[in-house]
Amino acid sequence: MDKILSVNLHQVYSMKKATVIGVGNLGSCIAYELAARGIVDELVLIDLYRELAEGNAEDIAQAMAFRSNVEVTAGDYEDAEGSQVVIVTAGKPRTPDMKSRMDLLEANIRIIKSVASNLKKIREEPIVVTLTNPVDVMNYAMWKLTGFDRRRVIGSAGMLDSARFRRAISRKLDVPVLDVEAYVLGEHGDRQVPVFSRVAVKGEKRAFSDEERKEITEEIRQSALNVISKKGGTVYAPASNTVNMIRMILEDVPGLAVCSVVLDGEYGLKDISIGVPVELSREGVKKIFEWKLDEDEKAIFYKGAENLKKVIKTVM
Ligand code: 2OP
Repeated sequence: MDKILSVNLHQVYSMKKATVIGVGNLGSCIAYELAARGIVDELVLIDLYRELAEGNAEDIAQAMAFRSNVEVTAGDYEDAEGSQVVIVTAGKPRTPDMKSRMDLLEANIRIIKSVASNLKKIREEPIVVTLTNPVDVMNYAMWKLTGFDRRRVIGSAGMLDSARFRRAISRKLDVPVLDVEAYVLGEHGDRQVPVFSRVAVKGEKRAFSDEERKEITEEIRQSALNVISKKGGTVYAPASNTVNMIRMILEDVPGLAVCSVVLDGEYGLKDISIGVPVELSREGVKKIFEWKLDEDEKAIFYKGAENLKKVIKTVM
């Protein structure tokens, strides 16, 4: 279809189009969920290995054949035109031998630079959702290199960390996970901040002893590696939590999400992308909430920010 016509048709009929860049295990799972949950009408899959994109596109399209008319194709960057959301998982994934997501820095910054230079050419600025690790650094780089509005470049990890926090609390207190309200802010890494001061169970604030805090924090810190060492990578959890976020964006669902966002004075920080609570909308980040944290939480949050600043300086 003619490019201009296709862009306009998406606007007129409010068709929802997303592009996934990097369709290994994680990217293809995100694509599958977007299709299966009826969140998009059109999906483009891009991968350096074209056959991987073609294979996944056909596989997902066949999975949908009894369910929906979602159009799933493999494509190139020019086919991303008209996408409201572009999801970037391209890059090396974390493996069991890696102590930290920062070990991926050098390999993945090169990939993000190349992806960003291609995304810059898209005429209608999409919302970019970055998952490539270390996600806070890569999301910052994505923003800097595309020059897109900072509210339209969003790193996905905070909801995943928050999901792990909820699981750990649910196990510890022996309560159903859906009764737990809990969020993790800050760096997606060792200095993540489980916000114990705001945890509620069935709507009631719950206090935690130092011992409980320590155990839960350690559990969620090890959580990714625990899965990676058993099955080679984390897939369903990052995919599903990212798709929840994309749904909030594309369907303007009100509610709170934790995302890595480029700050411009919020929390007294600038020129950094880090996990903070936000409200999302079709425009991207609609609002950034500045939560009051307790002293311990604040200390870890700013330690993480300091570390991210240092790392950003080495790659940008
Ligand atoms: C995760 O936390 C590896 O960052 C990825 O699952």
